[in-house]
Amino acid sequence: MSFDFVGPYLPTFMKSTLTTIEISFIALFFGFIIGLILCLAKMSKNGIFKALSTIYIEVIRDTPLLVQLSIIYYGLPQIGINFPSLFGIPSDFIAGAFALSINSGAYVAEIMRSGIQSVDKGQMEASRSLGLSYWATMRHVIVPQAVKNILPSLANEFVSLVKESAILSFIGVIDIMFTANTVKNATYDSFGPYLFAAAIYFVLTFTLSKLVGLLEKKMAASN
Ligand code: ARG
Repeated sequence: MSFDFVGPYLPTFMKSTLTTIEISFIALFFGFIIGLILCLAKMSKNGIFKALSTIYIEVIRDTPLLVQLSIIYYGLPQIGINFPSLFGIPSDFIAGAFALSINSGAYVAEIMRSGIQSVDKGQMEASRSLGLSYWATMRHVIVPQAVKNILPSLANEFVSLVKESAILSFIGVIDIMFTANTVKNATYDSFGPYLFAAAIYFVLTFTLSKLVGLLEKKMAASN
C-alpha cells in the first residue's frame, strides 16, 4: 500500500468530490420538493392522496437504494424510458440524481411529518378556539415551530445523501467512490485508494455534522 497515487490522481479526486457534492445537493433539492408534496398528501383528508403517499413512502424506505437505482437505470430503458444526457451532463448522472431524489423524498416526507406532529396538540386547539382556520393555524402557529425540528433533520439528510451517493458509482457516476475504483484498477492497490476515499467522505460529513450541531443549538436557543 502506498499513497503515491494521490499526486497524479488528486485532480480526479477533486473533480469527483465536486460531483459527489453536486449530486447530493440536487437530490436534497428535489427530495425536498417530493417530500413536501408527499407530506401534504399524507396529512390531507383525501383518502386516495393519503394512500398513495403512504405506499410511496413505505415502498421506498423498505427497499434498498441499490435496487431502486438498478430498476431506474437498467429496468426503465427496457420498457422504453431512457435517461437522456442533457447539456453535456451524462445520462448516468441524471438517472443517479433522479434515483437519489426519489429515494430522499420518502425520507424527507417523514422528517416533515414528524416535525409537524411533534408540535404540541394544544397549539392547534388553542389557535382554533381563538378563531383561526385550520390552514391559518398551520401557517402562523404550527409550521414556524415545526421548522425548528425539521431544519436540523434536513441537514442530517444531506449528510446521509453525501454518503449514500457512493452507491451511484455502481452505474458509472464519476464520484469519489468511482474514482477510488478507477485508481484501484490502475494501480493494483486496493487499500490506499479506498482509504483516501474514506478520508474525503469523512472530512465532508464530519464538517457537515458539526455545522448541523451548531444549527441544532441555534434552533433550540430560539425556542
Ligand atoms: N442505504 C440505505 C438503503 O439502501 C438507506 C438509504 C437512505 N436514504 C436517504 N435518503 N436517507 O436503503
